[in-house]
Amino acid sequence: MSTVTTASQREHRVTARSLGARKGREPFSMLTAYDFTFARLFDQAGIDVLLVGDSVGNTAQGLETTLPVTLDEMVYHCRLVSRAATRALVIGDMPFGSYQVSPEDAVRSAIRLVKEGGVAAVKLEGGVASRAAIERIVAAEIPVMGHVGLTPQSVHRMGGYRVQGRGEAGRQRVLADARAVEAAGAFAVVLEGMPAELAREITAALSIPTVGIGAGAACDGQVLVLHDLLGLSDWTPSFAKGYAGLGALASQAARAFADEVAQRKFPAREHEYR
Ligand code: KIV
Repeated sequence: MSTVTTASQREHRVTARSLGARKGREPFSMLTAYDFTFARLFDQAGIDVLLVGDSVGNTAQGLETTLPVTLDEMVYHCRLVSRAATRALVIGDMPFGSYQVSPEDAVRSAIRLVKEGGVAAVKLEGGVASRAAIERIVAAEIPVMGHVGLTPQSVHRMGGYRVQGRGEAGRQRVLADARAVEAAGAFAVVLEGMPAELAREITAALSIPTVGIGAGAACDGQVLVLHDLLGLSDWTPSFAKGYAGLGALASQAARAFADEVAQRKFPAREHEYR
């Protein structure tokens, strides 16, 4: 298998720019990916965007929150995913602490994700509060995807993973955040954990595409976390849909292997070298 990108693959590559052109016309799909194996499968399946999410902290590292995930870890996972993608746009998530201190810090972190991780765009959380960081990264020619509503890195301020934008004050706050992201020059924005009606309003108000997760059907694109899509976690959130039950299959395979080892059924004659 070759990982070299051909001229025709480059031509059909999904870009921040091409996603913008699809707004209101053609919905796009985005999945999280953290390694070469799944990134290659999703890329070959025609998924438009691969997000190397800091949700790697929850899904692969077994953490309660995404807060401890480091920039070095994100660079590593971005490199694995970028290596596999031939068509999909690969976006690297900026972890907590890598963009909040100053716009200079933010651009330095984003440059690492592009230079060492090989991504073509970055994503960061926050609206009004992240405006200067987004502007600075965009000024360095790096496309930025925003993320507003339920922002997991704000778990302590929110008092848990709560739906945002309920009530008039909440609605105004999330709308202002989405507008700030657009004004700062982001090419798209994730809308997470908010009433479907508010996501519809934001999608209509912005000229950039919105990507929904727990935000209803009106968004320009939809994103799911790999482990939810494939049924690899202990539970699936109510806003997500499990399209396969790989967790159960994996347990079944491991149990069958353990049984066959215990019974000396594996390896059989055909698995032996001669
Ligand atoms: O880290 C992540 O996986 C995300 C998605 C849920 C949008 O930010």
